[in-house]
Amino acid sequence: MKKTRGFGKIEIIVCFVCYWFLEGFALQDIAFYEYGPREIDCCKKIKDLYFDFYKKDKPLVFIKTYGCQQNVSDSEKYAGMLEKMGFQITENKDIADAVLFNTCAIRENAENKAFGNLGWIKNIKNNNPDLFVILCGCMTEQPLVLERIKNKYFFVDLVFGTHSLHKFPELFYDVLIKRTQKEKNRSGIYISEKIDNISENIPIKRGNSLKAFVSIMYGCNNFCSYCIVPYVRGRERSRSPSEVIKEFKNLVEAGYKDITLLGQNVNSYGKDFGENIDFADLLKELDRIPGDCKIRFMTSHPKDASKKLFDTIAESKHIVHHVHLPVQCGSNRILKEMNRKYTKEDYYKIINYAKSKIPDITFTSDIIVGFPGETYEEFLETLELIKKVKFSSLFTFIYSKREGTKAAGMEDNIPKEEKTKWLLELLNVQKEISENLCKDMVGTTQRVLAESCDEKRSCVFCRTDGNLMVEISGENKMLVGSFLNVKIVDCRTETLIGKII
Ligand code: 5AD
Ligand code: SF4
Repeated sequence: MKKTRGFGKIEIIVCFVCYWFLEGFALQDIAFYEYGPREIDCCKKIKDLYFDFYKKDKPLVFIKTYGCQQNVSDSEKYAGMLEKMGFQITENKDIADAVLFNTCAIRENAENKAFGNLGWIKNIKNNNPDLFVILCGCMTEQPLVLERIKNKYFFVDLVFGTHSLHKFPELFYDVLIKRTQKEKNRSGIYISEKIDNISENIPIKRGNSLKAFVSIMYGCNNFCSYCIVPYVRGRERSRSPSEVIKEFKNLVEAGYKDITLLGQNVNSYGKDFGENIDFADLLKELDRIPGDCKIRFMTSHPKDASKKLFDTIAESKHIVHHVHLPVQCGSNRILKEMNRKYTKEDYYKIINYAKSKIPDITFTSDIIVGFPGETYEEFLETLELIKKVKFSSLFTFIYSKREGTKAAGMEDNIPKEEKTKWLLELLNVQKEISENLCKDMVGTTQRVLAESCDEKRSCVFCRTDGNLMVEISGENKMLVGSFLNVKIVDCRTETLIGKII
């Protein structure tokens, strides 16, 4: 039978209908915002108000960030916008004219910390009624939290969620002008429209001159049964490759040496907009950009960590030989209950493939201890997994119930004290693994970035690809910002001691 390479009439119609349907589906509810004249105008008006009304030429803002790197990156955007409003950053909350809390909702203790800190802000505000209190971030995307703020924390001036980051200048101005005009009803609680969006061109005030974050996507579609993130950060949406490449290039040209690509699940990059580019392709594009800069990324979901990803790392020039690959636990039953969509055997396969392609690759991971219904035997499977994989370090958490998630409805009958014991057991095992990995590195040569210097001790602190600290004695701050080839000559627990070669 003769085969043609083209499509028949019917196939074309079917493809067209599917494309139209999928396009409509994929792009549905994603709004694109350009930071532009409207926001610039609001920033200017805020600056003028602080000058004319409060007689402040350079008002001070205290920014407190809770939670993950995405929040740190968002705070750099808040700082950038605040700078355009004439603010200067202060580390001293007592002398601030405004305080901004960028909150986290991932675990209960993150929320408790934020509420606790609001307590001391109340005292400061009693002495300085002009203090402008801003609460934003993941916590404020939850209706129950908003209720609590309305009822108990009425001294907060402005509340808005992650979906409204780009609206910050407008919202701030709106409350400030009402306040200066002494309007009684100056409600500052803004309920997000919850429209998933991507905002470009927001000014960024970066917190470090060597290391930078570039968000490549926002949100998460995975709905792990314990996790609040999909509810507070919305569905996955990728930034356009051209915007990511532009930001990355600018950073390399500005002298940044270590850039982390951020997303809740970077391996899903590009799936939502149907362009013919996936995460590995994006990495390849960035790796080609001239300059000497390490490329990192986080976080990767094991179900989406493809062979192509590791092949790309193996062939690249700038991508670090380190992957943060949260496994969460080592029991297949619990992984299923967590809705993680892989088994421990799948996980081992990924690790083995990666090691076969990149022998010096290191892994870090996240572990949740005490998921509802987890037994001690199942916890022991996690211990077995971490012994087998030998992560260079772990982020470990006791399960925290998040209202609105599927796991919140599961029976959780293990006492907190028991979970804490398991966690300590896990930390002890991991400590030994990390220390042994450090010992194994003695005698190897590493290319590290000199990040900081203790002039009193004549000591330079560097980082390996796998984020391990290397201390080099007898050197000075002139080295900070350069890559060095060092021989690891010793180690103290989890710190390596190096000598420049
Ligand atoms: N309880 C404990 N840990 C959690 N994480 C996410 N949600 C919870 C929760 N409800 C952890 C996971 C995730 C990391 C960012 O936070 O390990 O990978
Ligand atoms: Fe949460 Fe799972 Fe999404 Fe990670 S992948 S942000 S744990 S829902």
